[in-house]
Amino acid sequence: MFLLVILGLLCCSSNLVWSATPFKDCGSPSGTIQLFEVTDCTTVPCKFIKGHTYSMNLTVQAKAPSATATVALHGIIGGIPVPFPIGEPNACKLGAKCPIASGDANVVSFSLPVLSSYPAISLYVKIELVADDQKNDYACLQFPATITS
Ligand SMILES: *[C@@H]1O[C@H](CO)[C@@H](O)[C@H](O)[C@H]1NC(C)=O
Repeated sequence: MFLLVILGLLCCSSNLVWSATPFKDCGSPSGTIQLFEVTDCTTVPCKFIKGHTYSMNLTVQAKAPSATATVALHGIIGGIPVPFPIGEPNACKLGAKCPIASGDANVVSFSLPVLSSYPAISLYVKIELVADDQKNDYACLQFPATITS
């Protein structure tokens, strides 16, 4: 009972926690991921319905400067990373204030169109925000998802 109360407090004490999408950090040498949100996904696996577009907000605090940053999205299908096209990969045009200085927190907003031609499978989605000048990632995160009709 006591545990339930604690869990309840943890889960619902903040809107931020409530709307966040759980993820695994896959190595973010140049930054710290502060928040990640995917439309309609507060528990994983995220359910992606074909024909829908899902928007994502990634909040990252930089630990190193970079003139520009780039978003890369991969689906990991049977262990193989497959690039997923997003319309605009330039983070400076997706909400980040460029050049990015060490200590800056930026929200990068982008969207993933789930095309009807995609197969109905379970996969991991890997998202990177690359600090172009550092040649490594401000953020690397991964979460499981299922694509359905
Ligand atoms: C992303 O942030 C914008 C602006 O704050 C908000 O309107 C939108 O709902 C957010 N999207 C998600 C998926 O949380």
